[in-house]
Amino acid sequence: MKIIDTIDSYSSFKNGIPKGEKIGLIPTMGSLHAGHASLIRQAQKECEYIVVSIFVNPIQFNNSEDFENYPSNLKDDISFLESLNVSLLFNPSEEIVYPNGTKTKNYDLDDLENKLEGSLRPGHFQGVATVVDRLFDLIEPDRAYFGLKDFQQVQVIKKLASIRGKSPEIIACRIIREDTGLAMSSRNSRLNTKQKKAAASIFRSLKFAEKEIRTFPVPPDALRREMKAIINSSRELRVEKILFAFSKNLELITDPDSPLDHYNENVQCFISAYAGEVRLIDNYCIS
Ligand code: PAJ
Repeated sequence: MKIIDTIDSYSSFKNGIPKGEKIGLIPTMGSLHAGHASLIRQAQKECEYIVVSIFVNPIQFNNSEDFENYPSNLKDDISFLESLNVSLLFNPSEEIVYPNGTKTKNYDLDDLENKLEGSLRPGHFQGVATVVDRLFDLIEPDRAYFGLKDFQQVQVIKKLASIRGKSPEIIACRIIREDTGLAMSSRNSRLNTKQKKAAASIFRSLKFAEKEIRTFPVPPDALRREMKAIINSSRELRVEKILFAFSKNLELITDPDSPLDHYNENVQCFISAYAGEVRLIDNYCIS
């Protein structure tokens, strides 16, 4: 595996790629796990060359402590990527990614950046769009792979792709979970054993919601209360938000009187919860 951190060395790599062969990009912030590996494997099925980028993007963190505590272990990441036969690791410095200063751009994301997760993390999605736009310019991939663990991020990237015009094809990949149901995340490495065990209740509550809706009509507030009780039953966890929205357009479901099984569209449930200082997110199509 080649490891590079400059634009020139990437250009020579790219110039060596025969015409017609595809580059698949998997943008990451490192601290890699099986969720990232599944994106890489999907890309390997469809592209001849796999580029993984590792860059912890400061401007997508709305909380400076979260940025400072973001786990990083480049040595382990390199071994992990080598074991997966990745062609190239792009590990740029902040100066390469942001040569004109680390500033967030302002994209017209159709208000996507203010919905759901965006309402809880102001500036986050503009920060994500800014870095991904730059990575697309630098790497010029044919395809780029993103996980549905970050459901709204996928919508933001698709919108970014439509704004860019010349853009890689965006491939959305399913969520990879631990055996307990806990969605894999780099932040899980910051959980202690008790917290990790308790965090499985997040997915348990999502499965509960799915079952509940299939059994009888239940209004959003009642379901939210029951889900919250499942998660908060452990002292290790604290629910931040449970939101229901249409999977298609992320419009929030606000009618308190309409049962969630009453809609013709798929309903996606979004959860954020804290285990100590660690913020965990998950989502699931419950209808
Ligand atoms: P990061 O959290 O490192 O995730 C990189 C990619 O892996 C994202 O597309 C994310 O959705 C996907 N991923 C993470 N956990 C997953 C899981 N359990 N199952 C499936 N896919 C999973 O997301 C980011 O980095 C950043 O926002 C980034 C896009 C790199 C921009 O900085």
